This record gives sequence, C-alpha cells and structure tokens, in this order.
Amino acid sequence: MEGSWDVHKDPPALPGGCFFLGRRKVKTLVTGGAGYIGSHTAKLLARAGFEPITLDSLNTGHRCAAKWGPFVQGDLADFKLLREVIGAYEIQAVIHFAAHAYVGESMRNPRKYFRNNVVNTLNLLDAMVDTNVKHIIFSSTCATYGVPQEVPIPEHHSQSPVNPYGESKLFVERALNWYGQSYGLRWTALRYFNAAGADPEGEIGEEHDPEPHLIPRAILAALGQIPFVEIYGSDYPTPDGTAIRDYIHVTDLAEAHYLALANILGGGESTALNLGTGKGHSVREVIAAVERTSGCRVPVREAKRRAGDPQCLVADGTKARQLLRWEPHHSSLDEIIETAWKWHASRYDVPARARPGRVTLGAHGGTGQNASAD
Ligand SMILES: NC(=O)c1ccc[n+]([C@@H]2O[C@H](COP(=O)([O-])OP(=O)(O)OC[C@H]3O[C@@H](n4cnc5c(N)ncnc54)[C@H](O)[C@@H]3O)[C@@H](O)[C@H]2O)c1
Repeated sequence: MEGSWDVHKDPPALPGGCFFLGRRKVKTLVTGGAGYIGSHTAKLLARAGFEPITLDSLNTGHRCAAKWGPFVQGDLADFKLLREVIGAYEIQAVIHFAAHAYVGESMRNPRKYFRNNVVNTLNLLDAMVDTNVKHIIFSSTCATYGVPQEVPIPEHHSQSPVNPYGESKLFVERALNWYGQSYGLRWTALRYFNAAGADPEGEIGEEHDPEPHLIPRAILAALGQIPFVEIYGSDYPTPDGTAIRDYIHVTDLAEAHYLALANILGGGESTALNLGTGKGHSVREVIAAVERTSGCRVPVREAKRRAGDPQCLVADGTKARQLLRWEPHHSSLDEIIETAWKWHASRYDVPARARPGRVTLGAHGGTGQNASAD
C-alpha cells in the first residue's frame, strides 16, 4: 500500500490539502491521542488531510482533547479490541503515543512501565501484523540514551537507559527492528527530547494530574496553583548550576510525526530520529522566561539532584532535518513559554498578582535560585 507520490519531491501542503493513499485519506490510528502530544498531532494530521482515529484509555488523557476524528475509549491491553478497531476503521497506519511517561514513577514502579509500555505495545504490534497494517510511528525518548557521552547527542550514541521508562522504550525500538525484519513492518522511532508549549491557537495544551514537568509546574507556581516549583540540583557543572534540557514545541513535534508518516508511507526506510532543537536551556533560564512572560514571581524550592538525571540533554537533530526536511518553527524558549502560559492562564482565575505586567521583577529578572529539569 505504498503511496503514488514521493514525499521528498511532492510533500502535501501544510496546513490543508488531503493526504491520500489511492483515493482515500490515510486512516491513521493514534493511540494516546487524548494525551498531550497525541492530541496536538491528531489536530495537525486532520488539518494535513489524514483521518486520525484516536484510541485512548483516558488514563492520563482527556476526552475533550480528542476532537479530531473518531474517538474510541479502550486500552492497548485489550487485544481483541485492537483488532476490531483496526478492522472497523480500516486503519492503514499507526502513530503510537500511548504509554506511561514519568521517569521518577518508573523507578518506584517499574512493573507498571514494562506492562504498559512493553507488553501492551507488543499487543499493538501483533494486532498490526495480524491485520496487515505495515506502518507505525513510535514515540521514543532521549531517555533511551542514558547518561550522554557526548552532547549534542546523535542517534548513533550508545543506548544505555538509567531508568525503567527509558528501558521500556528501548525494548520497543528493538522489537520494531525485528518486527520490521520478520514481518515487513515499516517504522520510525522518534526520540523526543523535552516536549513543551501548547497549541498556538489555544485549543489544547499540557494537562497532567499531578503535573511533573518543569514548564507547566513553573507556570502553575506563577499562577499560585501550586506553592512552588522544585529545583532538583543546583550544583551541576553547568554555567548556572542547574540542569540543561532541549525543549521542543509540541506543534513542531506534531509536524515531525506527520512528515515521518508521510516518509514511510512513501517508501522511506525504517529508522530512529532525534527530535530536538539542538539548543539547551537551564532550569534557571526556564524560570526566568516564565517570570518574564507572566510578570509573576515563580516561587521555587531547592532539592537534591534526582537519581539518573543527567546534567545536560541536548539533541543533534541533523538527521531529522535532512531526512524529513523538518524545521522546528515554534521552539524558541519564549514562544514555548508564551503558548504554555496562554493555555494555563485561560484555564484558571488568574489572581491579580499573576496578571502579566502587574508584578515588578527584581533586577535579575529571575528567582536567583535553581530548579530541576524534566
Ligand atoms: N512529554 C514528553 O516530554 C515526552 C518525551 C519523550 C517521549 N514522550 C513519549 O510521548 C508519548 C506521549 O507523551 P505525553 O507527554 O503526551 O503523555 P500523556 O500522558 O499526555 O499521553 C499518553 C496518553 O496515552 C494514554 N494511554 C496510556 N496507556 C494507555 C493504554 N494502555 N491504552 C490506551 N491509552 C493509553 C493516556 O490516557 C494518555 O492520553 C509517550 O509515549 C511518552 O513516553 C514524551
């Protein structure tokens, strides 16, 4: 079921246009499509002319975020359901987001991660093989690399995860390789760095409960919704002592999924790609940016480094740029924070002190303290 076009010569226009295989829009199963990255991707897929069908247990996702195409509430653990959904919607390709995704929780409860991220993903792959669906984009992570030996991190860097979450994702990457060799599955593993920001049109954003990620936590602290944001480690050998991460806007991630899917549907080889900007920001920089955008002070609390938290994770994103002709357009730290702030502020009664421009920051423009990376 290869497409008749060549994506490198003739990529479908974005936004708008229609993405056909033969005479039909490509029906794409989006597992975890009610979650943060999945919902942004479903929105972009629909706009790009695919037909997204969301399957989500609503374990951490939100029904209201799944509004681009049909929605099925269900769990990847249900093998029969997977086969039925693939058959009923005549699924032609899969983008697989559904997973548990918290490093810290995976250290405390690894079985939860291996069960969902490995066993349930194998269910999905088997259902695809049984129903002859051959194309999958997989949400992988920079956590598969472990502690980097070189930065920026290229795809050929050794993969030695230092937590069960990263291990579970690495297992799936390896399974994809063998399913590709034995069953003809064509795949792309997208290794995200730190997803951040919100839909520039303000329709959807990041909403986890509890929220573990730095940027939304800093915003929630600015809004007075949580008392402070933690700073995990202020003694790293980095310029300001706090950990450095590569933040990539969720809309740029969504676009990479669309391009990666178009690539393999057009006959591209299976491969793994880093998705990041190649530029790192320290925790202090992130907090200062939230204070600049919000006009509010962000209360912080310092804590020890977390086990397995590398000092610096920054992507070498050359391969994705070359192969997919992908460019992150929304991933300046300011745009990330502005879109995230807009999304969060719209959802809360913003107290007077939290209205942009109402609070005067100190001369340093930041908290003068450290925080932790995601
Ligand atoms: N957020 C990041 O910075 C980041 C970084 C690297 C990789 N990832 C990966 O990206 C993917 C999406 O992450 P996210 O931040 O959007 O997380 P999320 O929790 O917002 O979304 C995951 C979605 O999957 C659903 N889900 C989980 N298990 C399921 C199951 N067994 N059956 C059906 N649905 C299930 C959840 O209900 C949720 O809607 C995950 O695979 C994650 O590991 C995320």
